[in-house]
Amino acid sequence: MTDVFGLSHKDAGPVTGQNRHEQVVFCSDERSGLRAIIAIHNTALGPGLGGTRFYPYESEQAALADVLNLSRAMAYKNALAGLDLGGGKAVIIGDPAKDKSEALLRAYGRFVQSLGGRYYTACDVGTYSEDMDVVARESSYVTGRTPANGGAGDSSILTAYGVFQGMRAAAEYAYGTPTLRGRRVGVEGVGKVGHRLVGHLVEEGAEVVICDVSEAAVERLLRRHPRVEVVADRLELTGSDIDVYAPCSLGGALDDETVARLRATIVCGGANNQLAHPGVEKQLADRGILYAPDYLVNSGGVIQVADEIAGFNMDRARAKATQIYDTTLKIFSTAAEDGIPPAVAADRLAERRMSEVGRIRGIWLGH
Ligand SMILES: NC(=O)c1ccc[n+]([C@@H]2O[C@H](COP(=O)([O-])OP(=O)(O)OC[C@H]3O[C@@H](n4cnc5c(N)ncnc54)[C@H](O)[C@@H]3O)[C@@H](O)[C@H]2O)c1
Repeated sequence: MTDVFGLSHKDAGPVTGQNRHEQVVFCSDERSGLRAIIAIHNTALGPGLGGTRFYPYESEQAALADVLNLSRAMAYKNALAGLDLGGGKAVIIGDPAKDKSEALLRAYGRFVQSLGGRYYTACDVGTYSEDMDVVARESSYVTGRTPANGGAGDSSILTAYGVFQGMRAAAEYAYGTPTLRGRRVGVEGVGKVGHRLVGHLVEEGAEVVICDVSEAAVERLLRRHPRVEVVADRLELTGSDIDVYAPCSLGGALDDETVARLRATIVCGGANNQLAHPGVEKQLADRGILYAPDYLVNSGGVIQVADEIAGFNMDRARAKATQIYDTTLKIFSTAAEDGIPPAVAADRLAERRMSEVGRIRGIWLGH
């Protein structure tokens, strides 16, 4: 059972246009072992853009469910980031450590090309800029390539920068001043995004406390920022006396238990899908915790790779990512005016842009 056509939603409430996918393509190339699914949620604002996840899914059904969710999330993220892009995403089924090959990536590139520009791909879990260089040998619709090939490179640079802008906006809203100087910020996960965020915070004069399950990641961070405090895990981090909690590891950090324990007044981090289940956004609001919606504040990465479509320019991309500050403030004030949590205000604003601006463009026809 799938929900490609939105026919299986009887138990999930009314189906709206936002829940239906415009196009889902299954791609198979036996010789290279490629099994991929490309999902385009909608092209109301432009071609779908979203990364390629290379992951050993347990089943085709699990891969399909993931790509449908991820492509929908990209539609919202791209809309709120003010991009002329719709929502798309792809999954390659397999273990990237064992199954990735030049032939497989190039076969995948030919399927991306076959969509004629309705879908632009990029990196995601299990794929890197070097892989995008290979995909780009078969397709013109590839972003996130290496700088040596004219690409935007590592998207975590502007992801972290954008999260920092969102956090400054949250500080402005909560404390009346857009600075983290003197605030205690807890960063969970100091990988590509988290360690760069720590850099911005240290530079700003914040007190930073971190946790990470990887000792290597912690050591790398301490070499660069020796004054950062380290705690054991999420439990200790969220129970400690912090002003801001920045989830930058995996999804689902904000569950019932964490929200009940949290002492921070602001949550703003880079991780995708931070809310463990629907309703958590209301629990946060009820406890007076200001939640900066994840897909808004972490959109710097997609802003960075999207810029590559017009010929990459870091200054232009950074200027666009700086706007995350204004959008975050706007979401907070809309949420307060309408008496709804910021996560709901963000969804509504994204939906409004897709519907109002999308209406004038109709369905994207490619180049
Ligand atoms: N890289 C980007 O441009 C980008 C863009 C948008 C969103 N994101 C999201 O940001 C998050 C981080 O991405 P990344 O690129 O930095 O990944 P990464 O793999 O480089 O870093 C993740 C870090 O989190 C740590 N970690 C995992 N589980 C943990 C736990 N339970 N507690 C503490 N630490 C834990 C890992 O050891 C690792 O150091 C992900 O949710 C990702 O989807 C990334």
